[in-house]
Amino acid sequence: MESYKSNFDHGTAYAGTMIYDRFRKKESLNGEWHYAVDQYDTCVSQRWYEENYYDEGGNLLPTDYSFDEWDTMYLPCCWNTFDKMFLLYEGSMIFTRKFFFAKQNEDERVFLKIGAVNYICRVYLNKKYVGMHKGGSTPFYFDITDFLEHSNRIIIQADSTRRNEQVPPSVTDWFNYGGIYRDIEIIRVPKIHIKNFGIALMPDSGFKKIRAEVILSEKVDSTASLIIDELGMQVDIPIKDGIGEIVFEATFELWSPESPKLYDVTLNCENDSVRDSVGFREIRVRGMDILLNGKPIFLRGISCHEDSAPNGKALTDEERIENIRIAKELGCNFMRVAHYPHSERMSQLADEMGLLLWEEIPVYWAVHFGTKDTYYDAENQLCELMTRDYNRASVIIWSVGNENPDTDERLKFMGDLANFAHRYDPARLVSAACLVNFAKNAIEDRLEQYLDIIGLNEYCGWYVADFRTLPALFENSSPKKPVIITEFGADAMAGNRGTVTDKGTEDCQAFVYEKQIETICKISYIKGMTPWILRDFRCPRRTAVTQKYYNTKGLVSASGKRKMAFGVLRSFYNSIK
Ligand code: GCU
Repeated sequence: MESYKSNFDHGTAYAGTMIYDRFRKKESLNGEWHYAVDQYDTCVSQRWYEENYYDEGGNLLPTDYSFDEWDTMYLPCCWNTFDKMFLLYEGSMIFTRKFFFAKQNEDERVFLKIGAVNYICRVYLNKKYVGMHKGGSTPFYFDITDFLEHSNRIIIQADSTRRNEQVPPSVTDWFNYGGIYRDIEIIRVPKIHIKNFGIALMPDSGFKKIRAEVILSEKVDSTASLIIDELGMQVDIPIKDGIGEIVFEATFELWSPESPKLYDVTLNCENDSVRDSVGFREIRVRGMDILLNGKPIFLRGISCHEDSAPNGKALTDEERIENIRIAKELGCNFMRVAHYPHSERMSQLADEMGLLLWEEIPVYWAVHFGTKDTYYDAENQLCELMTRDYNRASVIIWSVGNENPDTDERLKFMGDLANFAHRYDPARLVSAACLVNFAKNAIEDRLEQYLDIIGLNEYCGWYVADFRTLPALFENSSPKKPVIITEFGADAMAGNRGTVTDKGTEDCQAFVYEKQIETICKISYIKGMTPWILRDFRCPRRTAVTQKYYNTKGLVSASGKRKMAFGVLRSFYNSIK
């Protein structure tokens, strides 16, 4: 009984099996799927997907499932917000539907793309095992060409069980939503297709050199054609053994939050053609400054979870646009999308609306830093995120984690992740949200040597009650790199009023913001801040009468009510714009 999973832990989808898909034609499998709660993992262990309805003698066998008579759930969604009965369910659910398929070209390859499943996903198609994916927040792809028939049954297992060896580990400070919560799509590509396409302004090129890289699905020699009509540009990219790159000069408008200029880019190669909408900008650190397009910038930010009361992690575009709009109303030019990769729609919308992003993988708190498989899980999630958002001008920082104890194992684990990110994407900055060194009340974390920017979470005035520790913290520190205060804040139930010392009131939260800002704004090596947090979010660890299973450090309540501290932060940001 226990060894059954070993048959289904191979064929893993990972960063290397991704294909480039932005603006490709997609056939949606979103919609009503039949589903069953499968607490004991019976579908996999008893091989329901083989649909053995008869024995060798043709006699009907009893079955414990009835795929097309099960209730239905509209996917993508988080099952926790689909039905009150499933709010706190963690484990496996089985989803199934039928669909028709007709080949369009003899040589086409057909991919199944799933935008995200928290946490483990197994896919079966027409009674055969296709493969699995681990990681709760990144897209993954399976080549299903050879599994397809005219009439198809697909079965997907989504397993949201928290496990200590996973990334994140079992305990986090956010809600463990489960399900297939981002789009499910079929993508047809020619046999020789564009598997990856990266394009970006080259750093240190005087803002005039663009580098483009193409990876094909096959190791063939060819030529790709890159076209940017608005620049009157068409360049050929020689392809050798399936890989090609080019650097070319151009004159163009730089992308920035204030002027989010995007260019339509087309890439043709063999019988394939892809597009993107790309902004060109440079982000770098020089000494203690963060430079956007060569000019020092202060990152006026706010942290944000991917969490909505009605939809969990499966936010609608309208909800994402509203979060960006509120951030801009606050005077933000920057957002820390914590603590895991948000939907690709977030970085696409940030490109269009003009907002810089810090994106992060959930190497959160007590990760199993000594476990090799845990490292590979983290590195793969980081690689899937960087592959997915490589062309997004809004994304300026890759974060390799949050609030991790400064141990030797963690240093190796996260130092390796930071080095991996630098190698994969030299045109962006790498950071992490580090803890205060409480023994010294100083900014001192060995991980800093691997980072371009030091993120620091400090809760002076909240978890550390004595505000005097805040100026002392900065006086005790002499960081060699720019610092972003990645978290400070206080809980406040919207509408709860009192004195500035009454914990849980709006008055107290506003006072914490005032005192924090009063100190932070005087520290020259602090080049940004992303207070915790834009909006209240579901959290099983927060049970006080003023929290009711929500972390209420939001400047806005889950229902959208602005709190007093919202005005405090907005005034500060508007004063330094
Ligand atoms: C931590 C952590 C957050 C958490 C916050 C809090 O710093 O990074 O994920 O929600 O503190 O305690 O509210």
